[in-house]
Amino acid sequence: MLEKEIKIYSSGNYENKPIIFIHGFPFDHHMWDKQVNELAKLYYCVTYDIRGLGISPSGDGQFTLEAFVDDLEFIIDNLKLSKPVLCGLSMGGYISLRCVERMEYKLGGLILCDTKSEADTNEGKLKRAEGIKIINQVGVQKFITDFIPNCFAKDFINRNVNEYNEILIKTLNSDPIGLKGCLLAMQGRTDVTPYLSKIQLPSLVVCGEEDKFTFPMAMKKMAEIIANSKFVTVPGAGHMSPVENSVFFNITILDFLKVNFS
Ligand code: MLT
Repeated sequence: MLEKEIKIYSSGNYENKPIIFIHGFPFDHHMWDKQVNELAKLYYCVTYDIRGLGISPSGDGQFTLEAFVDDLEFIIDNLKLSKPVLCGLSMGGYISLRCVERMEYKLGGLILCDTKSEADTNEGKLKRAEGIKIINQVGVQKFITDFIPNCFAKDFINRNVNEYNEILIKTLNSDPIGLKGCLLAMQGRTDVTPYLSKIQLPSLVVCGEEDKFTFPMAMKKMAEIIANSKFVTVPGAGHMSPVENSVFFNITILDFLKVNFS
């Protein structure tokens, strides 16, 4: 079964509170390196490559968001994680939110980064279709070079050229089947908005102040609906807030974890 081939990584003491970090599209588990390096001193940090991305296999590429949640459940059950905190960015946030809707009783807390609860609009669905067409007809390179610059604040790219290029080169090597599978899964995901007001977990909602995909005002509104939640904007960051301003991001999530889980 494909979920058994998902590449899973862990750092820190298993006895500590588990946190599962779920990366965004089209990145891999390395996007959380700056968090794991810091947080593994106090928490049991689990990361993984979502199927089709990083070095997790693509299989036939027929992905659904439900299958992504099945993979996450497999990780929780297989590692016997007790009430883990989910920390998901963008597509990782879609997976986290749907996981909460399906099995909140298995979870301890929620950190939503640069994400949203709504399903794709018609315009969004057409953009996914256009992305698949570009990958098929022009290639991965064109899709990635159009997509990735928008994920980062301009200033971050200018000040961190080497780090940015490293990320870009890695994503340029993405498997087209995996990319298209993720686009189809995101295109077909359900709207989790009706469940937001039912969430009981302690929750933190974080957004880069220059995020062009998920706007801070929209995330603030989402946080207002989740009962036990706090909203924070990350200065100088775009869509990839944990990468772009890791110092501020780490302090923010460490505060949240300390208040709720120590
Ligand atoms: C992501 O960062 O995971 C993507 O931007 C999500 C999306 O395309 O909806």
